[in-house]
Amino acid sequence: MRAALPRVRTLGPVGAPLGFHLIKDDEFYQFYVAAEARGTGAAAALMADAEATLAAQGVETAWLACAIGNARAARFYEKSGWTLARVEGVPTETSSGLFPLDVWRYEKRLA
Ligand SMILES: CC(C)(COP(=O)(O)OP(=O)(O)OC[C@H]1O[C@@H](n2cnc3c(N)ncnc32)[C@H](O)[C@@H]1OP(=O)(O)O)[C@@H](O)C(=O)NCCC(=O)NCCS
Repeated sequence: MRAALPRVRTLGPVGAPLGFHLIKDDEFYQFYVAAEARGTGAAAALMADAEATLAAQGVETAWLACAIGNARAARFYEKSGWTLARVEGVPTETSSGLFPLDVWRYEKRLA
C-alpha cells in the first residue's frame, strides 16, 4: 500500500478517510470502506469513481478478485453491475511473496 499510495483514491475528510480504492492496470485491485460507512452509499461513490477512472484509461472490461465467501462484497459487486465470471487462482501479494489463491473473479464491461 505504501508503494501504491500515489494511485490510491480516498473518500472522506483528510486524515480520516471513510474508504479507498486502488486500481492496477485493468484490475479493481483493492477496495475498503470503514465499518461505520458501510451501507451509506460510500462504496457506490468509490465504485463510480473507479469505473470512471478505468474507462478513462481505455479499459473495456475491468476485473476484480473477491475472496470466496465474502458475501457482502459479492452482493455489492452484483448490485453494481459486476458479473461473477469464474473461480480463478490468482497470485496474491503477501509480505513473504506471491501466494496462489482461488478467488471469485468478477468482471464488468465498461466500454
Ligand atoms: C465490500 C464493501 C466495500 C461494500 O460496501 P458496503 O457499504 O458494505 O456495501 P452496501 O451496504 O452498499 O452493499 C452490501 C450489500 O450486501 C448485503 N449484505 C450485508 N451483509 C451481508 C451478508 N453477510 N451476506 C450477504 N449480503 C450481505 C447488504 O444488505 C447490501 O445489499 P442490499 O443493498 O441489497 O441490501 C464493504 O463492505 C467493505 O469494505 N468490506 C470490507 C472489505 C472488503 O471486503 N472489501 C472487498 C474486497 S473484494
